[in-house]
Amino acid sequence: MGWGGSPGGGMLTQIKLHDFRCFETLEVEIAPGVQFFTGDNAQGKTSILEAACVLLRLASPRSPTLTPLIRQEARGFALQGYWGSRQLQFYHSAERRKLVLDGVEQSGTAEYLRAARLVYFSNTDVELVRGPADGRRRFLDFLGSQIEPLYRSSLRAYERALRSRNRLLKAVPVRWREVEAYDTPLLDAGRLLTDLRRSLVAELVPWAASAQAAIRTEAATGGPEALSLQYQPGAGEDFAARLRESREEEARLRQTRVGPHRDDLSLCLGGQPVGVYGSEGQQRTTALALKLAQARLLEAVWKQPPLLLLDDIFGELDVTRRNALLNALPTNAQQLITTTHLDWLRDAPSGPIWRLAGRRLEGTI
Ligand SMILES: Nc1ncnc2c1ncn2[C@@H]1O[C@H](COP(=O)(O)OP(=O)(O)OP(=O)(O)O)[C@@H](O)[C@H]1O
Ligand SMILES: [Mg+2]
Repeated sequence: MGWGGSPGGGMLTQIKLHDFRCFETLEVEIAPGVQFFTGDNAQGKTSILEAACVLLRLASPRSPTLTPLIRQEARGFALQGYWGSRQLQFYHSAERRKLVLDGVEQSGTAEYLRAARLVYFSNTDVELVRGPADGRRRFLDFLGSQIEPLYRSSLRAYERALRSRNRLLKAVPVRWREVEAYDTPLLDAGRLLTDLRRSLVAELVPWAASAQAAIRTEAATGGPEALSLQYQPGAGEDFAARLRESREEEARLRQTRVGPHRDDLSLCLGGQPVGVYGSEGQQRTTALALKLAQARLLEAVWKQPPLLLLDDIFGELDVTRRNALLNALPTNAQQLITTTHLDWLRDAPSGPIWRLAGRRLEGTI
């Protein structure tokens, strides 16, 4: 799997926000290497990282839809920035979406999304481990669509077929011939998505095990067990057969019951599911390892480290794990780090520290 070869390297050099979250307008020059955004709560630190993620990947790390990102009282938000020499612009409102790459309006997302890669670390990442399966599917989808162009298109095709099929299953009485018309598109896109997710997990396995070994502390893991990942396909081994068998259940529950929308990723330490039996420390280490593995895999595929957006995670970690994580992050990666306090930072960082107050950038300290 993979694109192989990078379309002209790059890093984020500037981002402009307009009517995005709490900001009417904000412009930030982004330095290479590490930089910090600090300030009290609710000043917009996370919103800046979120804006970078939305500009580059068209998805928010904290909201499944983009509507809450529009500044209250505004009609839509606009983001603009540079990734290397490429200029990206994204406008979103309830009525309209506009993508512009290097001054050219895009009819699809494929070329635009090829520009940049990133990993988003958040202090809520532990939900990946102990929360519901949709978080783990989103984790795979966010990664897969940065590696394989077919990933996003097959996911969208599957979601379209699933939505149409589910809408027809709600009709009273159910017209099965119409439902069945969607079986082929559902099966085709579903099989492709299953294959893509299966090979993505296979590629992730060694990176996750080594990431977990790099950042675990004996105290946090209670032992040297390796982290193992396993893809659990919601389509089973034979999607068509499973779909036929689920007919009665579909009639009763009025929705499609099998398929990749029921996929999961099992996470085990020493053969035991971490989300169920793991300690708080083991769960947090596993979540960090998954994100670190994401970064390492992207680096291996693209031959350059992805942009790392680290939202409020260092202040919460104990010193051992913090240092282990800092050492395990890809070297030379561009990093945007938010934190409410800087007292955990031992050495003066080499990059700028931006201070946010009154929801404005007050300059560097
Ligand atoms: N659509 C929106 N319109 C206007 N304001 C918003 C919108 N969405 C969020 N906000 C506000 O933006 C402010 C900044 O939120 P953000 O999460 O970026 O803060 P933060 O600096 O990361 O805070 P913390 O340190 O608590 O994580 C909050 O007061 C939030 O209520
Ligand atoms: Mg925040």
